[in-house]
Amino acid sequence: GWRTPFIYQFQGFWCQPKEIQAILSFHKHFQAKDGDVILATMPKSGTTWLKAIAFAILNRKKFPAFSNNHPLLFSNPHDLVPFFEYKVYANDQVPDLSILPEPRLLATHIPFASLQESIKNSSCKIVYICRNPFDTFISSWIFSNKIRPETIPPLSLEEGFNMYCNGAIGFGPFWDHMLGYWKESLERPDKVLFLKYEDMKQGIAFHLKKLAKFLGCPFSLEEEEEGVIEDVAKLCSFEKLKELEVNKSGKSIMNIENRHLFRKGEVGDWLNYLSPAMVEQLTQVMEEKLSGSGLEFKAIS
Ligand code: PPS
Repeated sequence: GWRTPFIYQFQGFWCQPKEIQAILSFHKHFQAKDGDVILATMPKSGTTWLKAIAFAILNRKKFPAFSNNHPLLFSNPHDLVPFFEYKVYANDQVPDLSILPEPRLLATHIPFASLQESIKNSSCKIVYICRNPFDTFISSWIFSNKIRPETIPPLSLEEGFNMYCNGAIGFGPFWDHMLGYWKESLERPDKVLFLKYEDMKQGIAFHLKKLAKFLGCPFSLEEEEEGVIEDVAKLCSFEKLKELEVNKSGKSIMNIENRHLFRKGEVGDWLNYLSPAMVEQLTQVMEEKLSGSGLEFKAIS
């Protein structure tokens, strides 16, 4: 496929030359602080949602979620929570991050094993969101075709699917990515919080509480009574974010239009795309790679 020549294996995962450059700069220059919060994901797993939620929770005293001048109403979550590899270290200049307000909120698609060492060794927190591979694949496949340059032919479902099952997707293989953070979350539950997209869809209030507690800023009883949790959930919902002008017409990551980040926001859309043979194939890959780890996806079984 045309995409294969453009992605390379770097420290055991797949990525593009520009990303490798940024990751090397990140390794060289980033220095974690104890209060930092790092959001980590595979692409198309709920990154935008998690960025919105974490930002809203951490800043809720300064910006109440119901307020009509909340930054999330005017900025895409990717502008409020920059990626190391697409923003912070995306060019040759080394930014002075010490000037950022604390706690610093940053994000990455980089696998756990390849994070900058100070992230692993400091007491900064990592929040990972994982999405079932079926929906993640469909979301990535549709996204990559939407943002592809006109000069490049579309990637067929079959070709994209085979690449995905072979692990050849940005920051993949997906199983290594998930397992890296999963294992760390089991060993160091105070360090890594492992969330699932499907669980969050099913019970957002419960997960917002869990996240706030993990981040050291639990919702008070008073806040609960005032409906603050519901306000945050609503502000960060797919429906709300999708309808905002900034997300209809703006651009945030590289040169990608924000509207492409809000497609359906559902669980199970893969049912509309994958053949029974494909479902069987990916199920087998997951069984082979994830079995025994304790990481499971109930939404698809
Ligand atoms: S990216 O490019 O990696 O940052 O993309 P990412 O945000 O990880 O994934 C995009 C998918 O997440 C859906 N989405 C949401 N779901 C629930 N709530 C909110 N607020 C939300 N925002 C984005 C988005 O629609 C993509 O999933 P699909 O299945 O393609 O709709």
